[in-house]
Amino acid sequence: MIHLLMGAPGAGKGTQGDMLVERCGFVKLSTGDILRKHIADKTDIGKKIESVMASGSLVSDDLLIDMVRAELSRLHAEAPESEVLLDGFPRTVEQAVALEGLLKNLDCGLGTVIFLDVSDEDVIKRLCGRRVCRQCGKNYHVEYLPAAKDGICDDCGSELMHRDDDKEARIKNRLGVFRTQTSPVLDFYRENGHYVEMPASGSSEDVFSGVLDALEQSKSP
Ligand code: AP5
Ligand code: MG
Repeated sequence: MIHLLMGAPGAGKGTQGDMLVERCGFVKLSTGDILRKHIADKTDIGKKIESVMASGSLVSDDLLIDMVRAELSRLHAEAPESEVLLDGFPRTVEQAVALEGLLKNLDCGLGTVIFLDVSDEDVIKRLCGRRVCRQCGKNYHVEYLPAAKDGICDDCGSELMHRDDDKEARIKNRLGVFRTQTSPVLDFYRENGHYVEMPASGSSEDVFSGVLDALEQSKSP
C-alpha cells in the first residue's frame, strides 16, 4: 500500500514521514532526498538538476517519473507488503496520472492521501530556521528543534547546513510553484480515494496524532 504525504514546502512532510518510519515501521521515499543525494554524489543527474533545485523550481516530470518507477519497483520486489510513504511526489498532475499507471502495473493500492495545511507565514519561519545534517540528512530547527550542540548533528556528529533553497526569496518561489503546479494535484485526489486535509500548524506531536488517525480511518471501507 502506498500513502502520499503532501503539502507546501516546509509543511512537515519529512518530519511526519520520519516519525512514521521510526515509530510505525513505514518505508519513506522522499524524491527531494533522492535528488539531493544525486547532487551530493555529483552524478550526471545531480549536475543537471543542481541549479533548478537551488532556485526552487521543479525538476522535469520525465526524470521524476522514471526515478519513482525504479524505486517503487525495487521496494515492491524486496518487500511487497510494506506500507510506503511517498514524500514530495506527485507534484504535478502529469506525475499523479503516471503514478496511477505505476500502481496499476505493480498491482498496488493507493492508501491515504494526506495534505498537511500550513500558512505561508509558518512555512517561512520553519524553512528559514531549518538546519539539515550534511551526512545523514536529519532535520533540525534553530528554535523548534535545536541540536544539542549548535551546528552539529546529535546522531552522527556531522555539520548542519542551511539548504540552498531555504533562503527567503527562494522559499517564495517554491510557494508559488506549489500553488500553480501542485495545488491542482490536490483537486485530483479530492475526487479520488481517501483524501484527508489537516491543519499542520500545531506541534509535530499534535500533527502526528492527526496523521495516525487519518491512516487508521482509511483502513475502513
Ligand atoms: P523537497 O525536498 O520535497 O522539498 P519541499 O517539498 O519544498 O519540502 P521541504 O522538504 O522543504 O519541507 P517538508 O514539508 O519536508 O518539511 P520538514 O518536515 O522538513 O523538494 C526539494 C526540491 O526537489 C523541489 O523544490 C524540486 O526542485 C525537487 N523535487 C522534489 N520532488 C519533486 C517532484 N516530484 N517533481 C519535481 N521536482 C521535485 O519541516 C521543515 C522545518 O520545519 C524543519 O526544520 C522541521 O523541524 C520544522 N517543523 C516540521 N514540522 C513542524 C511543526 N509541526 N512545528 C514546528 N516546526 C516544524
Ligand atoms: Mg522534506
